[in-house]
Amino acid sequence: MNNRAQWGTRLGFILAACGSAIGLGNIWRFPATAYESGGGAFFIPYLIALLTAGIPLLIMEFSLGHKFRGSAPLTFSRMNKKAEWLGWWAVFVSFVISTYYGAIIAWAIMYAYFSFGQKWGTDTETFLYDFLGVSQVEAGQTGVFVPEVLIPILIVWAVVLFVLYKGVRKGIELANRIFIPTLAVIFLIIVIRAVTLDGAGAGLDAFFSPDFSRIWEGEVWVAAYGQIFFSLSIAFAIMITYSSYLDKKSDITGNAFIVGFGNSSFELLAGIGVFSALGYLATQMGEPVSEVVAGGVGLAFVIFPLIINEFPGMNGLFGFLFFASLVLAGMSSLISIVETYVAGFSEKFNISRSKAVIFGGGLAMLVSLIFATQGGLNFLDTADYFINQFGVAFIGLVEVIMIAWFLRKLGNIQEHANSVSSIKLGGWWKVSLGIITPLILGYMMFDLFKVNLLKQHTGDNNTTGNYGGYEDAFIIYGGWFVAAAALIIGLLFTLKKWNPELLDESSYDSSKEDEAV
Ligand code: PHE
Repeated sequence: MNNRAQWGTRLGFILAACGSAIGLGNIWRFPATAYESGGGAFFIPYLIALLTAGIPLLIMEFSLGHKFRGSAPLTFSRMNKKAEWLGWWAVFVSFVISTYYGAIIAWAIMYAYFSFGQKWGTDTETFLYDFLGVSQVEAGQTGVFVPEVLIPILIVWAVVLFVLYKGVRKGIELANRIFIPTLAVIFLIIVIRAVTLDGAGAGLDAFFSPDFSRIWEGEVWVAAYGQIFFSLSIAFAIMITYSSYLDKKSDITGNAFIVGFGNSSFELLAGIGVFSALGYLATQMGEPVSEVVAGGVGLAFVIFPLIINEFPGMNGLFGFLFFASLVLAGMSSLISIVETYVAGFSEKFNISRSKAVIFGGGLAMLVSLIFATQGGLNFLDTADYFINQFGVAFIGLVEVIMIAWFLRKLGNIQEHANSVSSIKLGGWWKVSLGIITPLILGYMMFDLFKVNLLKQHTGDNNTTGNYGGYEDAFIIYGGWFVAAAALIIGLLFTLKKWNPELLDESSYDSSKEDEAV
């Protein structure tokens, strides 16, 4: 009766979930965020965010997927028909992320190749702009395709779609079994080399020296919760989809703790590696570390090439390893994002996995080609800002409010998790999800509106922190437009009815099933 695909082993699931969580967010987002938000002092709000929102939500999503055994939209429908749209909303937000995430991986592939012989020269910023072709167009124009980006993007999609086509066990699990251990080894090599560089101490000092006064700033808490959400891939339909392939007997809470702490450990490791390397660069240039700190695109594609230029030896190899780690971390996340809509489409339209891969993945691939044009970087800023702001916090907020307050399902979910898990959930879990998380996320959204509406036209330098040439206003409204479009398309999808068998409780609820499965 129930022939849903399943992970081969517990480790397979943990690697896949870690593969989703560990991504660009860990390597290029966390170090700069922590540095800018109080350095060592940031760990206090960060840990609190992990324990009051990150892990509790991970447990919630794992439980939902495990209990209802469907893609995010089907899982929400099975929980309560009125919740289906939320699943689709998250799925379409994931769709948007997947289109630009692939482009960044494509750049990293090219940079891995450029590492040999440091083809980026000494003016790495100009090189980046020239390589992408963005210097040829005005903000908002696409210009023509850039073959050096187009080809690797197509390669990225070919790999991702092939992995998904192969299915859960032979595709996703196998890929993560290869990618994640390889990533761990490569990254360890990089970090060990980095901390032994001259000046690493100065970098680590800058990273860890705590500014406790910052703890009282709302902004720092917003940054901590935002980081945790993005980094753990929560509220993107991903963790629900992945946990829907779990075995009936699965230690849900145990898995959530492993994934949560595993991801944060990697994040910390990345912070140590990145700041050691920044300390080295600063020392070589005779400047303070604060002069070379960057995050995101700037860190990976402008500052890191500079670091590689200065490396004391084996420059090509270390450059290659760094960009290879971006590629591996990015690929395993991209696979998880695309799986959300592959699973959703296949269940909704009653089509096979391969068809869902071709239609869903194919469509995302086509959309992603906009990032392979000369204007790609500018569009990427809009997409990235949108996702960091609305995507991360907003859906999470709606999700907890809906489940905790409207549908009042926390009790059921807790019971379900406790029936199979090693670590039993106590009051902290309900309090975290019912009260702390909604309050903090609510404040985050309020703060976001305030910042966007008030600062936008005051010339407050670059509030969106964008890298290309867009106006803040365009990025903000563009972001809203994309978020709203994802919601509207999601609502439209709920108009189509599920195959009624899918909603039949006996098809998924283990308590209503015989032992013989
Ligand atoms: N968690 C991934 C990271 O840290 C990013 C990601 C976000 C992946 C959202 C999928 C969805 O980079």
